[in-house]
This record gives sequence, C-alpha cells and structure tokens, in this order.
Amino acid sequence: MGYLTLSFYFSFLDESRMHGVYRNFLIGIGSFHVAVNGSHMLKIDLHLHSCFSNDAVGTPEDLMKVLQKRGLQGMALTDHNTIEGCRKMQKIGSKDFLVIPGIEISTADGHLLGLNVAEDIPRNLSVEETVERVIDLGGEPIVPHLFRLLSGIKKEKLKPIQKNISAIEVFNGCSVPATNLKTAKVARAWNLGGTGGSDSHDPAYAGFAYTVVDSTDCRIDSVLSEIRKKRTWGEGVTIPLSYRRDRMVLSIRQFVHRGFKRI
Ligand SMILES: [Fe+2]
Repeated sequence: MGYLTLSFYFSFLDESRMHGVYRNFLIGIGSFHVAVNGSHMLKIDLHLHSCFSNDAVGTPEDLMKVLQKRGLQGMALTDHNTIEGCRKMQKIGSKDFLVIPGIEISTADGHLLGLNVAEDIPRNLSVEETVERVIDLGGEPIVPHLFRLLSGIKKEKLKPIQKNISAIEVFNGCSVPATNLKTAKVARAWNLGGTGGSDSHDPAYAGFAYTVVDSTDCRIDSVLSEIRKKRTWGEGVTIPLSYRRDRMVLSIRQFVHRGFKRI
C-alpha cells in the first residue's frame, strides 16, 4: 500500500510534461512491475510509424526530433510490414537517444510488434509462427492494442504464445483509457510485463505514450533484457479524439480501397 501511494506521489511530481491524469492512474498499476524513481528511468516510444508505412507521414528523423524535444530517450520504428525505414535510419541514433529497428507485422490473427528485427517477416502467418520468427531473428515480440477490432490479436490467442512473449502493450496512444486499463489488467493477470507506444502515424503525436524502463542504460540489449525480465510498463496520454476520428475515417477508406483487406 505504501509503495502504491509513493508511486502516485512521484507521478504527481512529474506532471511537468504533457502527460496527464491517466498516467497517474496507470503508474499505480505499473508500480507492480516498475520501481518509480523519477528521472532515473528511460522513456521510450516503442510503437511508431513513419512515411515508410503506407498510411503515415513523417520521416524517422522527424519522429526522433519530436521525441527528443518531448524528453524521451528512445524510439522503436515499427512500420507496417516493412523494415525499409529502419534500414535508412540506422545512423540517426546517438549515445543519448536509442533507436531500435522494428516492424509491425500483420499476422493472420492480428498485428504483432517485432522489436530489434532487421529483416522483413512475411505477413499472414499465424501469430504463433510469427512470434517464433521474431525470436529466431533475435527480436522481441510484443502484442499491441489487444482489444482493437480489426487489427488486435484476440485475447484467446495469448494462451498459445504466452510462454514466448514477455510483454503486451498496456498503453497505446490511439486506444481509449478504458481499453488501456483493460489491457493492463490482462498483463497483470497473465504475469506479463507491459510496454507503451504512441502508435503515432504523424510526428505531431509521437511520444504521447511510451515505455518506462527502470534503467539508465541506453542500449538495445539492455532495454530488451528489461522487457524480458518483465520489468517494463507503459504510460502516457491518449491522442486527441479529433485526430483519432480522422484516422479512423481514413483507415476505413483505405480498407475499402484495398478491397476489404486489412493493412
Ligand atoms: Fe501500429
């Protein structure tokens, strides 16, 4: 109880950035996994799209600039079904800002993030096989936006992959707070760690959600190791409704345009 109270106390102290009320609520749950020690943590947006996704704008460099301005220490580029942007951005990271190559793969069962993946992985494989492919490539599979209608992996599908994943995305910037909370509860119930990512398709919203890593070691291996130890969590604020509504309209239009095929 004291630990939880302390977590809330620190989260109120750290309200100077753009992060608001939901952060405080979720960090309380997050403290189950993460020791709250103010500035001695890394904040990394682990779910971002650039112009290399065919439904997003902005270059990887644009994303990095915005995230640095917002005080984050890293990002994972997770374009839809391609690592082309990751290949082109290899040189943009620095010792103070971590850039993790990644991908968001459209599996037959919904979307899956692969962190530290440097090769394309075919789409439409089962989620079980896709998780194995990510691991074989030295990457870390993360289940994003669990309850999303068209692209979320169904909760029942967690069971067959549970032993091979360490974390699910407990805070997605495009999901409403109630859904993020529901996902956070699933992570706790299934003894999984959590990540956070803005799922931004426009640099203006990069960093709205991020992963808290209880470390100051700004290296890919170190961050992945913390995820594997289930010691990370996600927090942030939800992207404004006006933008999410416009994106939903656009997504439906693109879905129809593709002949009712999911991205
Ligand atoms: Fe995404």
